[in-house]
Amino acid sequence: MTDYLPLPGTPVEELDTPCIIIDLDVAESNIAKLQAAANEMGVDVRPHSKTNKSPYWVRKQLDAGAIGVCCAKVGEAEVMVEAGVTEVMIPNQVIGKRKIARLVALAHSANIIVAVESAGNVDDLSSASTAAGAELGVIVEVNVGMDRCGVDGDGAVELAKQIDAAPGLRFDGLMGYEGHVVAERDYEIRKTEAEKAMAILTGAADQIRGVGIDVKLVSAAGTGTYNITGRVDGVTELQCGSYIFMDGDYLEVFNDFEPALSVLATVISRQKKDVAIVDMGLKSISMDRGLAEVISPASASIINHSEEHTAVNLPDAASQALKVGDKVRSRPTHGDTTINLHEYYFGIRNGKLEQVIPIPGRGKFR
Ligand SMILES: Cc1ncc(COP(=O)(O)O)c(C=O)c1O
Repeated sequence: MTDYLPLPGTPVEELDTPCIIIDLDVAESNIAKLQAAANEMGVDVRPHSKTNKSPYWVRKQLDAGAIGVCCAKVGEAEVMVEAGVTEVMIPNQVIGKRKIARLVALAHSANIIVAVESAGNVDDLSSASTAAGAELGVIVEVNVGMDRCGVDGDGAVELAKQIDAAPGLRFDGLMGYEGHVVAERDYEIRKTEAEKAMAILTGAADQIRGVGIDVKLVSAAGTGTYNITGRVDGVTELQCGSYIFMDGDYLEVFNDFEPALSVLATVISRQKKDVAIVDMGLKSISMDRGLAEVISPASASIINHSEEHTAVNLPDAASQALKVGDKVRSRPTHGDTTINLHEYYFGIRNGKLEQVIPIPGRGKFR
């Protein structure tokens, strides 16, 4: 299979579309900013790679000072370990014989930490790890109010005891993701609710310490709560992911980090004065959190998408100057699901392609 990839130095306007553009200066500055904030707050950074799905960006985060990476799925973890990343946490449950076997296999090449919330899963991880002569780090997921996965404080104590006594496993600590508050637009509400969530998590850690078991790590936070959760006593590390590129949805929350991500498309049809059709559709941009914002031309907006096409509204003379072959740039509302559609980032500096960056973690959702 041939990939027709542009050469470094290609001006942005000449890139083949649809493609993801990353402003390298901005993404690098976002990485540095989170790390500097974490250093100042005295917490570690273990960024979530479910956003970038790319060892290239994880390496940048590690070089900046991150202590490891989070991966949503075993498939993503395999990509990172294959690329030489040696500290990998899966802040999710890994269920089923085949997946657990893959997880344990990774533990021969990297320090793997996985989340649990059930006794049966602990038994399965312990048997597989022991049989393979491996050691798995295990953290208990606490439900901090998101009501997705996780146990309460008493449940966490029971699981910690079980893990602590289980061969092949090492009890590392706790995680709790305050996903129900990370995108809250009002800072004061976000702060109050995130602190409530973290009180549940740190309370569970204290309960476990109370029965004589050491809790090394307490992992939490999304981008929207980095500077709230990072200041909570007892939280040891941040799992933020979206901050690296930001997206339309997070820009509604705050501008602590800057937008680095856009999707470039080409006008392929101009039949109506106030509408352009571009070559970007649902196979190259997601709309699970709403339509993308058109960044250029600035006054334009998206009307609708189909699989391979998007209709763009051109409200004024400036935007109506758009011709077939011209480019339209949009910012997706949800970065992660858009990135998952693409094989490459086109990394841009000073208006030119600097580097084509592979996204080998895309589609690795098993
Ligand atoms: C368990 C967990 N931790 C951390 C994150 C990172 O969140 P964000 O993208 O808001 O930085 C997510 C996002 O889905 C998550 O599921």
